[in-house]
Amino acid sequence: MMTNKHLLTNIHDEMSNNEEMANMAILTAAMAHEVRNPLTTIKGFLQLIKPHLTEIDKEEYALIALDEIDRVNEIIYDFLNMVKPPHNKKTTSCINDLIIHIVQLYECESIIKNVKIITHLTREKALVNMNNNEIKQVLINLIKNAFEAIVDCNRSTAGTIEINTEVSGKYVFIHIIDNGCGMSCETEEHLFSLFYSTKSKGSGIGLSICHKIISEHLGQISFITTKNAGTKFTIRLPLDQK
Ligand SMILES: Nc1ncnc2c1ncn2[C@@H]1O[C@H](COP(=O)(O)OP(=O)(O)O)[C@@H](O)[C@H]1O
Ligand SMILES: [Mg+2]
Repeated sequence: MMTNKHLLTNIHDEMSNNEEMANMAILTAAMAHEVRNPLTTIKGFLQLIKPHLTEIDKEEYALIALDEIDRVNEIIYDFLNMVKPPHNKKTTSCINDLIIHIVQLYECESIIKNVKIITHLTREKALVNMNNNEIKQVLINLIKNAFEAIVDCNRSTAGTIEINTEVSGKYVFIHIIDNGCGMSCETEEHLFSLFYSTKSKGSGIGLSICHKIISEHLGQISFITTKNAGTKFTIRLPLDQK
């Protein structure tokens, strides 16, 4: 029998047809909308019950349930992005500026998790014709994975995430390097497969989205990893020639 996972992977493979993809996007958006409303109600009531649970020393039940609701919302959001037809809203912007903006978003988390984020960006502007929101989503997915890989490895040394840019020929290269847990050979083999995840609460959608978005920008995404040492992801994007 075909599992859900296989069925959905096949759907994804076969949906090269734009019309089917658009239908799927509409269905998913409708479903997401319907599911989110009751979730918001459940969340509201849980927050109301929480103080009463605290009184009887059972606050953790509410916290876990609230956490799970956030998780469902995240999965719906990832799924919507996966089936959404590509946007043509591209503008010419500097990749370095986008990286500086994203690193700011992670200032708090990097202090809490004791992870240093270091950037080495090209001095000259690296202009790319891109959909800013989509490229932002790619970088956020990669940075989130880097954080999780560092937290996962429990090493005594401090965690670091390095984000570097480099211009060479007609391309800009973005490197995201972490000193986290690295990957097993099995993970390397399945890395960009939809729904492949080694995390207990992972959706396995993040890297598939990254791959899809980078392909739509005529770029490439690759990685090198060493078990228990870390991982380096590299994105190559064409520079705007104008
Ligand atoms: N920086 C990284 N270091 C180690 N493993 C990684 C890294 N990035 C991704 N992975 C592996 O790739 C898998 C798929 O990643 P992703 O598609 O983002 O899904 P998720 O994060 O939900 O598991 C992860 O479960 C993890 O095993
Ligand atoms: Mg992820």
